[in-house]
Amino acid sequence: RPRVFSGIQPTADSFHLGNYLGAVRHWVALQDSHDAFYCVVDQHAITAGHDPKVLRQRSRLAAAQLLAVGLDPERCTLFVQSQVPEHAQLAWVLGCITGFGEASRMTQFKDKSARQGNERASIGLFTYPILQAADILLYQANAVPVGEDQRQHLELSRDLAQRFNKLFGRTFTVPAPHIVKDTAKITDLQDPTAKMSKSSSSPGGIVDLLDDPARSAKKIRSAVTDTGREVVFDAETKPGIANLLTIYSALSGRSIDDLVAAYDGRGYGDLKKDLGEVVRDFVGPIQERTRSHLADPAQLDKLLVAGAEKARQVAVETLGVVYDRVGFYRPV
Ligand code: TYM
Repeated sequence: RPRVFSGIQPTADSFHLGNYLGAVRHWVALQDSHDAFYCVVDQHAITAGHDPKVLRQRSRLAAAQLLAVGLDPERCTLFVQSQVPEHAQLAWVLGCITGFGEASRMTQFKDKSARQGNERASIGLFTYPILQAADILLYQANAVPVGEDQRQHLELSRDLAQRFNKLFGRTFTVPAPHIVKDTAKITDLQDPTAKMSKSSSSPGGIVDLLDDPARSAKKIRSAVTDTGREVVFDAETKPGIANLLTIYSALSGRSIDDLVAAYDGRGYGDLKKDLGEVVRDFVGPIQERTRSHLADPAQLDKLLVAGAEKARQVAVETLGVVYDRVGFYRPV
């Protein structure tokens, strides 16, 4: 079976609808067709400042949410990045074949470092995409399910795999992005030209899976839309309505055409109100399952330790080949 790998940062208490619809939903779907490795990337989560106690709790919360939305430890390998030291070890080697200019061109780094102030941005933030490449390449992943914002990072992962293979002999599988176009960029409710983002959206722009559904419904009712009334899907001229229709369609399983027909002549108010209810019905069971996983931290830890052990078997093997190929010292 082909391999998939993907990761998510524990940088907020809750995942938002962008994380779920752009990526995690596909993680769930790929469990049966693929040999799947999914990772809570806590090492990536310290690149822009953090609180240690909060981070540890958020890693648990992230794992609990992943289980709540449908990851099944019997059908995939779920683990926390810092439990598998080979990620950081491979990142060092890959960093040595990455150009400074090449890393400087990463748009997420440019955006985030500009927001923090260039003097304060860490080297970790700069080398972040190299650690991400290490995550993926360690597992010889064929495909990586992510949202549109990760496309450039995946391009770098592919380049590094090909470069290493050329320099030192075939070692890595070259990974392909798995980006499902319809929901690859869920936008900010308050700014429908920007992506919904943990780090840069205002609270009113984000719908969190673990938030009070009444609050989410209110945010949806206040979503920025154009001054028209007619519900049609046009991402260019009506990005706000297009975003709401995209979310509605993905959560309800109804096609966009079906929704457009259903709201013909009814205006934005009805659409927003109904979407609030769709979101409530969707997050209710997820919140309940998240709570029950968190209520049994020993079981959660057991499962994550077992996941890390399984992941490590693959990681150790790949890193061994890498150390050998690059000529690291080995006693005879
Ligand atoms: P992160 O934690 O920011 O986001 C997790 C996943 O959610 C997707 N996503 C979105 N999709 C659609 N619309 C949105 N508004 C939206 N916002 C976020 C992201 O594309 C991502 O797939 N660098 C990664 C984490 C990572 C990783 C990896 C991913 C580390 N190592 C290896 C894949 C493979 C990140 O920051 O994701």
